Amino acid sequence: MNLLETFENYLKSNLPVSKTFHPHFENALSLMLDAGGKRFRPMLLLSVVNSKNTLLVKSALPIALGLEMLHTYSLVHDDLPAMDNADLRRGFETLHKKYDDVTAILVGDALNTEAFKQIANAPLSNDVKIECIKVLSSDGGIDGMIIGQAIDCFFENQKLELSQLEFLHIHKTAKLIAGSLKMGAIIANYDLATQDKLYDFGIDIGLLFQIQDDILDETQTAIEAGKTTQNDGAKNSFVNLLGLEGAINAANELALKCEESLKSLDENLYNALNNLLLKYLYRHK
Ligand code: IPE
Ligand code: IPE
Ligand code: MG
Ligand code: MG
Ligand code: MG
Repeated sequence: MNLLETFENYLKSNLPVSKTFHPHFENALSLMLDAGGKRFRPMLLLSVVNSKNTLLVKSALPIALGLEMLHTYSLVHDDLPAMDNADLRRGFETLHKKYDDVTAILVGDALNTEAFKQIANAPLSNDVKIECIKVLSSDGGIDGMIIGQAIDCFFENQKLELSQLEFLHIHKTAKLIAGSLKMGAIIANYDLATQDKLYDFGIDIGLLFQIQDDILDETQTAIEAGKTTQNDGAKNSFVNLLGLEGAINAANELALKCEESLKSLDENLYNALNNLLLKYLYRHK
């Protein structure tokens, strides 16, 4: 079984449970998590763990699932009418469309708290778990994803400078991706210098990932993307600031930089991440 299958099996057998007389909350709770998606962040984490110690992958699965839960919560809230107002996500109707806003808000809340329950219950040392909680709560919280989303929504229809747009993308997307690599390195007990190196690399990969997402919003249909596209009209996106060609050039440049950084990692890390990243570095083409 490959890493992705291992993760998907673990996720399927650990979907959040809420068995009460509420008619749909339990279904809503697992729908978006179960719907799939690229699983990019958990695969980054597990690939780093796997590069050091294959036997540790099993114990890292709850952390990888917690990370995917937090990311999925961010998508459920991102799609709400008060944020991006999107109808389609991971090939399915968004939760507020299928049910109502209340359900989508509370499912997001639940996935956020469940994420930390997964970490707390992982069969790893308390020290490792606390370090992972620090990273996830910071990069997925007010030092990262949340402030990024706040800026993204506040500055709709107000043009930012390119440096401010980079700040926005680094916070809303890149930090959680960088944190995914760092949590993998913490679990695998890589030294601090390697943890930092992977984090910095993750910031570049994450910025690239969001520039590509901006490009795909412009170039893909909703069917191809599995989510609402052509939805960035009011946003500070790379496409809106630089034009489609400018955004593609920026992505190409950053992808080359990432290829170079990848080569500077130690051999095991290079092999583990190269396999995963090859299909992402040029996904905007
Ligand atoms: C979408 O993330 C939101 C961004 C940060 C660009 P993904 O593109 O990883 O979405 P899934 O997890 O595959 O659905
Ligand atoms: C969202 O960015 C980033 C998150 C933190 C969820 P987008 O709004 O561009 O993500 P999509 O395109 O809806 O997936
Ligand atoms: Mg958004
Ligand atoms: Mg969105
Ligand atoms: Mg987008």
